[in-house]
Amino acid sequence: MSQLVHHRAQWKTHIGFLLAAIGSAIGLGNIWRFPYLCYKNGGGAFLIPYFIALFIVGIPLMILEVGLGHKMRGSAPASFATINKHGEWLGWWQIIFVMFGIVLYYSVVISWCLNFFFFSFNLSWGVDPNNFFFKDFLVVSSSPLNIGDVRTQILFSLTIVWFLNWFIEFVGVQKGLERANKFFMPLLFILVGILVFWSLGFPGSKQGLSVYLKPDFSRLKDPRVWIDAFSQIFFTLSLGFGIMIAYASYLPKKSQIVKDSIVISFTNCFFSVFAGLGVFSVLGYMAKATSQPLEKVVSQSLGLAFVAFPKAISLLPAFSHLFGVLFFGSLVIAGLSSSISIIEAFTSGIVDKFHYPRRVVVSVLCVAGFSGSIIFTTQAGLLWLDIADHFLTQYGLVIGAILECLLVGWFYRTQRLREHINNISSLKVNRGWDFSVRLLIPLVLIIILINSLIKEFSSPYGGYSVLSLILIGRDWLIFTLFLALIVAGRTWKIEPHTRLQH
Ligand code: PHE
Repeated sequence: MSQLVHHRAQWKTHIGFLLAAIGSAIGLGNIWRFPYLCYKNGGGAFLIPYFIALFIVGIPLMILEVGLGHKMRGSAPASFATINKHGEWLGWWQIIFVMFGIVLYYSVVISWCLNFFFFSFNLSWGVDPNNFFFKDFLVVSSSPLNIGDVRTQILFSLTIVWFLNWFIEFVGVQKGLERANKFFMPLLFILVGILVFWSLGFPGSKQGLSVYLKPDFSRLKDPRVWIDAFSQIFFTLSLGFGIMIAYASYLPKKSQIVKDSIVISFTNCFFSVFAGLGVFSVLGYMAKATSQPLEKVVSQSLGLAFVAFPKAISLLPAFSHLFGVLFFGSLVIAGLSSSISIIEAFTSGIVDKFHYPRRVVVSVLCVAGFSGSIIFTTQAGLLWLDIADHFLTQYGLVIGAILECLLVGWFYRTQRLREHINNISSLKVNRGWDFSVRLLIPLVLIIILINSLIKEFSSPYGGYSVLSLILIGRDWLIFTLFLALIVAGRTWKIEPHTRLQH
């Protein structure tokens, strides 16, 4: 048995792995993005494309990532390099654009949540949360290229967020990641449970829920609805980021790949639907309290969490501070359990290839991550975030996932991986899975990609100047790709395939 296999960290308990993977999947996106998508895309009817996407793309890809990490006992670069040495760069690209892209702004959004957690104690957003969020808190500048000053308040909470990221990662897989998630996840379920049941009792909640869940089947004819469902499944399950591969590489030999993949995916999606009940009850209450139609009070993404919710919280007749504290506290927890998974995916890649000590890697990485995040704490932060997020998730993530399926499906042969999975799992996968990985998932993703490209060229995203889209969006992708090629070109301390010779 090679040294590598000997020294690889392992989850202490099975539930520890499950909670960590669920912790990665459940993130900010489940609380603010899913309910809004559902509302926009035909309410309850959206659950049809959403669950179809879960079955034909989400779960098969989850099985692929968990199975691959388990079989190759390595991070994304190590696993892909074992399949084919020309595939290694792809693994690096995935973890680099997540580590030096997504997590930089994701951690800034967690810090806003932390700020709002404290604001909840005295409802600091006052009577006009919209003005408060954009003008007083973020002081958003006029354009992405007009950076302005760093917002010290945000920088302060960002320091706390990165400290927590660092601390959890520093103490290791078992003592850090596993323990943190064992604490975070039950706490998150309890907090969100309290919030949902509490808000179901608000006057007006029924109207809110009927808007959220009332199925409008005619919307299913719109291809955009299907595209939204499929893209959301990828993001929400943290697939295509190399995260599940890294987490699964710490599983013991005897593991239930298929069952675990299903449990992780379902828990995540049910959590979204459940959290949505609370979100729409609150919006229903707000519509009633302000005598406005619900369409007027609902808002998307960041606006939902940082404008609509604070507004609703202020309107609550009793214990409004407590509601705010619980809500923003839940967001911080959901966010942190996702951000640590990103750092882990990158750390495991570096440790696998260069054998640097884990603690050194984590410390350097968190200092670099913190420094990189600072740009998003400036007055142009929100605009940068919007552009970077658009390009990294619409293109980086999708292209990465297409190539991942093609690499495993055509250069490795899914059958081999399926045999490995079926040998150890009591629940088996059949040939339909091969078809999904080799053809169906790449096809679906290519359609999503083409659709995004058409939209991209028909009008500049978000109305930003083309120059800022190129500099921040496109170049970010190119830069991370370049970095990936450089790292992939370096020699391995121990060749990746030797890890399997035991
Ligand atoms: N799955 C997370 C969510 O829904 C997002 C995430 C993105 C997690 C990137 C890890 C990495 O919010």
